[in-house]
Order: sequence, then C-alpha cells, then structure tokens
Amino acid sequence: MHFHLPHHYSLTHIVEQVRDVMKQYKNEKESEAHQIFRRAGGHQPKGLPQITNPDEETVPGIEHPGSTGVIYCSDRAMANGFSYSSSHEWANLGQGAPEVGPIPEAPERPNTVSLPLESLEYAPTTGVKALREAVANLYNYTYRQGKASQYTYENVCIVPGGRAGLSRVAAVIGDVYTSYQVPDYTAYDQVLSAFKRLVPVPTTLDPKDKYSLNIEQTKKDIRSQGLAVVLASNPRNPTGQVIKGNELKELVSLSREGTTIILDEFYSWYIYPEHDSDYGKSVSSAAYVDDVNEESDSVVIIDGLTKNWRLPGWRVCWVIGPKNLITALSQSGSFLDGGANHPLQLAAIPLLDPLHVQQEKLALQKHFKSKRDHVLARLKKLHLDVDVPPNSTFYVWLNLEKLPPPLNNGLVRTAQTFGSVNSQTALYRPSLKNY
Ligand SMILES: Cc1ncc(COP(=O)(O)O)c(C=O)c1O
Repeated sequence: MHFHLPHHYSLTHIVEQVRDVMKQYKNEKESEAHQIFRRAGGHQPKGLPQITNPDEETVPGIEHPGSTGVIYCSDRAMANGFSYSSSHEWANLGQGAPEVGPIPEAPERPNTVSLPLESLEYAPTTGVKALREAVANLYNYTYRQGKASQYTYENVCIVPGGRAGLSRVAAVIGDVYTSYQVPDYTAYDQVLSAFKRLVPVPTTLDPKDKYSLNIEQTKKDIRSQGLAVVLASNPRNPTGQVIKGNELKELVSLSREGTTIILDEFYSWYIYPEHDSDYGKSVSSAAYVDDVNEESDSVVIIDGLTKNWRLPGWRVCWVIGPKNLITALSQSGSFLDGGANHPLQLAAIPLLDPLHVQQEKLALQKHFKSKRDHVLARLKKLHLDVDVPPNSTFYVWLNLEKLPPPLNNGLVRTAQTFGSVNSQTALYRPSLKNY
C-alpha cells in the first residue's frame, strides 16, 4: 500500500488511509500467505516503518523494488513444486500472456526472421522508419478515415515492449501529479514509482461503476488534485471493462483541457461483441483525437505486438502521440533501453498491413470470446459468481471472498486469465494450502 499525500489532502483523508493500512496490517499477521509474501525482497508495506530483514539487503545501496503479482505467483508456485514438466497437474489462473500458437481462421504464425546486414546495426531509438510508417498507416486506416489530421511516422516511436514504452513515457513526465486507478495493470505502480520526479496519485475505481473509469469523477480529481497526467489501460487489465464511443470521446476531450491522457491500449482488439456484425471492430482513442500534432490534443497511446498480434516474445511495441512527445521519447530511449530489436522490427512491417490485421483480429475475437464464455460457464458451475463479467481483455475479475479460508485471503483474490486456459504454465494446485 502506498501513501501519496499531495499537500491539499485533508486530515480526515490521511486518518482514513492510516486506518486502512492498520486494518490490513493486523489481518495480514493472521495470514500465512501474507507473511510469506512480506518475506520476499521489496514487499514490506510502504508508508509504515520498514522492518529490515538482515538476510535481505546484501548489496550496498541496492533495494528490491518488489515483483509484480504474476512473477511473485510463479515463484511461489515453483517453490511448491510447479515445473514445466508437471504442468498438467496445475491450472494457470494468473498468467497475463496470450496463447501464441495457431488459432482457427488466423493467418499462419510467423516462423522465420531474416537478418539482412543492416539489421545487425542498432536501430534508431525511435524505431525503423518503415515500421513507424506502417503503424501510422494502420491507425489512420482503422480509426481516422476522412479526418483532415493524419498520423505520420513522426507521431510514432517504436519501443522494446509495452513496459519499456511506459518507462520511456514515465521518464519524460516532469514534476507533476500523475494519476492511475486501482485496479489497473499491476506494473503501473512500480513503473511510476521508479521515476522520482513525478508524483504518482492512485485513485480507486468503484464496483458500482463496474470498475470502469468514471469520467465525471476523473474530471473532479483533475480539478481538485491538480492532476497533470492520467494513465489508464483501456480495455482494462484486470477488470475486463472497456470505455468506448461517447465516453471515450469525453475522456479524450480532457486532454484539450490541459491534462495529458496516456491510454494503454494493449487489449484494443480483445473486444467481445454481442452481434455478429460487430466482429472485427476494435477500440482506440486515436478515433477521437482532433489534431494529431497539437500539443493541446495530448493523447498518448501505447500498444504493440505483445497481445493483439499474440507475439509477446518479439518485444516490438509503439507509443503514438504528438511529434514533440516522440522526440522526448527518443531521448529517454537513448539512455533507458537503446531501442527495439532491429531484425524483428523489419519482420513486423508486413504484420501491420490492414488486411492482415483484419484477419488476425476476427480470428482472435472469435477464439477468445469462446474462451471467455467457457470460463464463465465453468465458474458458474463452481458457484463462483462473477459480479462484473468481462466484455473485453482476457481477464475475469473474480471475487473469491466466499471461498473457505485461506483461499479467501487477499493474496489469492486476484484476476484470473483465460488467455492461457489451455496453455502449459500453471500457478494453482487446489491441494496446496498457501503458496
Ligand atoms: C495493460 C497492459 N499493458 C502493457 C503490458 C505489457 O506489455 P509488454 O509485455 O510488451 O511489456 C501488459 C501485459 O500484461 C498489460 O496487461
């Protein structure tokens, strides 16, 4: 838990936060799973006095930042006997990777990469120009047909993965309040905290809003808390909710009132339509930006091959925004990561062809919708009620409160994924008490 206390927070607010932490802290002491969690490097509660484990900090000046949930769960599963050879005994309820193999009606999976001599060089930190052009073209074709203002390669920065893109963006955010919501993609908390200039401000989503970003509340927060930047995934990991149409338009319009809106659109194709005619549609804020180069239209989009193209191993992703942002990202890339893999950037170019994309998108939506429906039906049979069924992403936000202890404690109340329901990695074996 974090304390981020902008100056204008009231005393009551602070007292409430302290009470929350104390309540959680007391309950944690009764939970073996929490104690195991706390013993792992970097997992001491923040905002409370740090209890130093003498065995833990062995390298002078080095602190563990804490692992993301998925990595921690995998480590604990391995400590309890999980291995890839025993994977058939386990069920994977926590991994956030898509199925990478062939799926019905999708184009063949790429299986060769060529290595022309030029690809042995560093790629530019903004990426290979032809790929940047292909990204701009895809967004114009999909979301901006008929609009006067069109993206060009200068609005695109290729980055070595989504998290690298987020880090590059976070590294160029100044000394301002930057808000994200809980729950959202778990890496935001750590990425934003790693860059010490900006002040991360977590806000909570309301179950009454189906854990969707409440635009009216966001407007109020911008005004009352002085938020300069708002970061959100849309569609949202882990709640499986998407903001689209007028609501998304309104969110984008906040950028014209002086707030930079960063939208992580990694699941933009994972939308599950109710009507057959809606298959093949995806969602992006790119459709609602007025002028792609006006800094007053400051919408930053992050996406890439990781989820939509089901190629997480390629580490080829992109950030789209006004030209002035792209030049800043080129600079942060030059000291953070040095640019994305050159040969795979070249190999990615044909994958961005709009006709290829359409085929991938249709196949993906049909396949993952059937996975979602399968998991929801199985959960129902298990009497595990899903209060907010997902309309997008490959997650189910499931409350396990009603399970018998210790399965109902905070550590196993988590997002479940159906992206890898048939895959070999696994994180949970019912016979285990706590892991
Ligand atoms: C919302 C969201 N953004 C970004 C990423 C990470 O992308 P990458 O694996 O390319 O770093 C993920 C992966 O789980 C995600 O869920």
